[in-house]
Amino acid sequence: MSKNDKIRVMIVDDIAETREQLRKLLSFDPDVEVVAMLQSGEEAVETVADAAPDVVLMDINLIGMDGITATRQLLDVTPNVQVIMLSVQGESDYMRQAMMAGARDYLTKPPSADDLLDAIHRMAKLKSRSVMDTIPPASAGGQRGEGAGRGGAQRVGKIITIFSPKGGTGCTTIAVNVAISLQKIVDDTTKVALIDANLQFGDVAIFLKIKPTRTIVDLAPRADDLDTELLNTVLVPHPSGIKVLAPPATPEEAEIVREGDAGESGGSLRFRTILEFMREEFDYLIVDTHHVVDDITIAALDLSDLVLVITRPVIPEIRGARVFVELLQKLGYGMEKIGLVINAVDNKRMGIQPEAIERAMMPAIAQLPLDEVIALRAANYGVPFVVKESHADISARVTQLARTIVDMFVEKDEGSTETAKGRRRVGLGRLL
Ligand SMILES: Nc1ncnc2c1ncn2[C@@H]1O[C@H](COP(=O)(O)OP(=O)(O)OP(=O)(O)O)[C@@H](O)[C@H]1O
Ligand SMILES: [Mg+2]
Repeated sequence: MSKNDKIRVMIVDDIAETREQLRKLLSFDPDVEVVAMLQSGEEAVETVADAAPDVVLMDINLIGMDGITATRQLLDVTPNVQVIMLSVQGESDYMRQAMMAGARDYLTKPPSADDLLDAIHRMAKLKSRSVMDTIPPASAGGQRGEGAGRGGAQRVGKIITIFSPKGGTGCTTIAVNVAISLQKIVDDTTKVALIDANLQFGDVAIFLKIKPTRTIVDLAPRADDLDTELLNTVLVPHPSGIKVLAPPATPEEAEIVREGDAGESGGSLRFRTILEFMREEFDYLIVDTHHVVDDITIAALDLSDLVLVITRPVIPEIRGARVFVELLQKLGYGMEKIGLVINAVDNKRMGIQPEAIERAMMPAIAQLPLDEVIALRAANYGVPFVVKESHADISARVTQLARTIVDMFVEKDEGSTETAKGRRRVGLGRLL
């Protein structure tokens, strides 16, 4: 949707009168155009690609295929459409199901003209928002590479680092699935990169069944002199559309990335410079880490717009996660930049209840269920579950997490030109 275009809206409701009422409400807004009115979920799924709406108003109770199933199927066809669910029931369970299916908003019927138009404009903004036209991120890293000379608007991507102080908590699983979900949600001009910052034993390539011929070692010696072409020859494309920066082929080569002085914050300068360069080339950069706060992790944390801290519901991991969050706070990270993810939640077993973890730490940004079969199959076949098993609960939860991340940045960028640009954090290196 270009800035001058109208917002294209598709209405799905089995009652002709309701469709007409909605159309009338929308006709008062000159920026909105109704491009299709359909009476069933099946028709909506069939028509969505041709009608190319920006926003779909979907009734939840349709005859035949219900609105939740229709939303799920419709988003499989056109993932970057924004669905607003309409229902006479204001029940939280319906709302939860609608959100899990990928709906972005939920209005009770009949909506007021204000609520409806507000929601539509908000959704349209989300859809059209490419990180290209957002303000610089709120990361305190400061001095980005100049990037001038590559012409046009300066892309400043969001860096999302995934960290857990303990091994085996699911960092890599979450990193690969979140990266692919993000790419599915956003439009195809939005670029997503996945960086394996576990330089000695990284396994992102195995989780994605890709065979890197070039790695970060090909970039590191030229960190101060990077260009787009070189970067593109090193990145490995994945069929999902994301690009992967692979770790060194052998553990000993990690030193090549570490060479040179440490930066002011104690982070690896070479790695930092590579990230800063990539931030100008991509909209979202997901960084999978190993489980140590060292110079590489410090560089990633220092540039991050969001740090996802992963724990499973077991005491040693929760304690580790809490200590790490406290460390981030000491370093001046606002809580809004820290997202707790509780992985492998199993209500039937003896694990600590997620609510108890939240009370001890902070509200979780996501809870992902334990699903040994799906997670193991995905790891062993090298096909992330959001690709092959997109209807599984674990996939829906990861997709929801990806949506939360996108929304978070849109809201932040709209909120203000924010503070943290100028705020200095304490260098991690000085504390450790
Ligand atoms: N929600 C889940 N339910 C069941 N198994 C899971 C879940 N998440 C991850 N796993 C499994 O746990 C194992 C470890 O996951 P993963 O490699 O993603 O963790 P990690 O924190 O990156 O580990 P490492 O210490 O190797 O870096 C894998 O076999 C994965 O399939
Ligand atoms: Mg890992």
